[in-house]
Amino acid sequence: MSGAAAPMKTDGLTLLVAGGAGFIGSNFVRHILGEHADWRLVNVDKLTYAGNLANLADVAGSPRYRFHRTDICDAGEIARIFAEEKPDAVVNFAAETHVDRSIDDPGLFLRTNILGTQVLMDAARKAGVARYLQISTDEVYGSLGPTGRFSEDSPLRPNSPYAASKTAADLLVRAYFKTYGLPAFITRCSNNYGPYQFPEKLIPFFVTLLHEGKPVPVYGDGMNVRDWIHVDDHSRAVEAVLLRGRPGEIYNVGGGNERTNMEITKLLLAAMGKGESSMKFVPDRPGHDRRYAIDDTKIRTGLGVAPKVSFDEGLRATVRWYLENEPWWHAVKSGEYQSFYDRWYVRKDRV
Ligand code: NAD
Ligand code: DAU
Repeated sequence: MSGAAAPMKTDGLTLLVAGGAGFIGSNFVRHILGEHADWRLVNVDKLTYAGNLANLADVAGSPRYRFHRTDICDAGEIARIFAEEKPDAVVNFAAETHVDRSIDDPGLFLRTNILGTQVLMDAARKAGVARYLQISTDEVYGSLGPTGRFSEDSPLRPNSPYAASKTAADLLVRAYFKTYGLPAFITRCSNNYGPYQFPEKLIPFFVTLLHEGKPVPVYGDGMNVRDWIHVDDHSRAVEAVLLRGRPGEIYNVGGGNERTNMEITKLLLAAMGKGESSMKFVPDRPGHDRRYAIDDTKIRTGLGVAPKVSFDEGLRATVRWYLENEPWWHAVKSGEYQSFYDRWYVRKDRV
């Protein structure tokens, strides 16, 4: 993919963010409102189980912030919002994101992650936006053996319904760039951690279980490897691609921080003052990717972006945040979340 588009006007920019009430989206919304005093930010989010306006309580009152509770698959509503808000640029974080849920209910993932992307890009195209940035994932590349890293040219070999839906969306983004000249680009990031992450993902799931005095379920042999990056570093990378990236391009974003799940589990047990009796091995996730590792040379050398948060300090601060914000995770660890986990664990005989 190559090509260029008209330079983006950044003075007084109106940025439409889809999925801005989720974990990474809310971090990005806060980051942008803090960094760009003359930008307007329009957040479009359906508020699924993973979307939470409490994540944005500190910025919701800003006169530069607007929220629309809308499904990105609803073409009529999305067209109406684009007509009303007239965005100059779009960043799409909105997605179904949890691999285990995609194993349970793939259809929802295909609808939101593929058709929702199509609806947003159609609206972006008709509105003539200057930039459309698709937030993708390293999971589109599939799984690595013990060596090597994913580059932007690595083959696309998704292994879960979630990863397949994100891959399909990436291919649509490419097609819209080639066919319609939509000034679109893609970021593919590794595993994020930090505050406000929904407590179904490894780190907040384990911290909250340990706090509740429950054992943590390690899938398989616990030797799967992920490349962890703090969410603040991901937001900075997304901002840099939006401002300085080249339409038609793909940018990998990584933490340069590979850890096995066992390493993470032991760090969390220690941080929570628990022993190994608080950990249990459970049957593996079907199709479980063994190892992810990102080669981020392109964004490092091309855009001068590199992670700043050290894993030790980032993890310490993250554990502290969950311990200090128990009401936040108590509120989300109920209702629909609980019914998914009851089904998943009963079926897999996990706890
Ligand atoms: P999340 O699950 O915390 O949040 C997703 C947000 O999207 C929620 O606010 C939800 O309400 C919203 N949403 C879902 N379906 C929608 C729909 N149909 N219409 C409008 N809004 C909808 O996800 P996250 O972890 O913050 O991930 C954000 C993006 O980053 C996703 O595209 C994901 O694939 C990608 N990503 C995540 C990670 C990670 O480690 N979490 C890593 C790389 C890439
Ligand atoms: O790599 C980027 C991806 O990272 C994102 O695209 C996804 O949206 C995000 O959910 C994340 O996917 P993972 O599947 O890697 O994250 P998760 O937190 O679900 O699991 C991390 C690792 O921990 C994985 O190897 C599975 C393992 N695990 C997870 C859970 C929830 C366990 O061993 N036990 C668990 O209970």
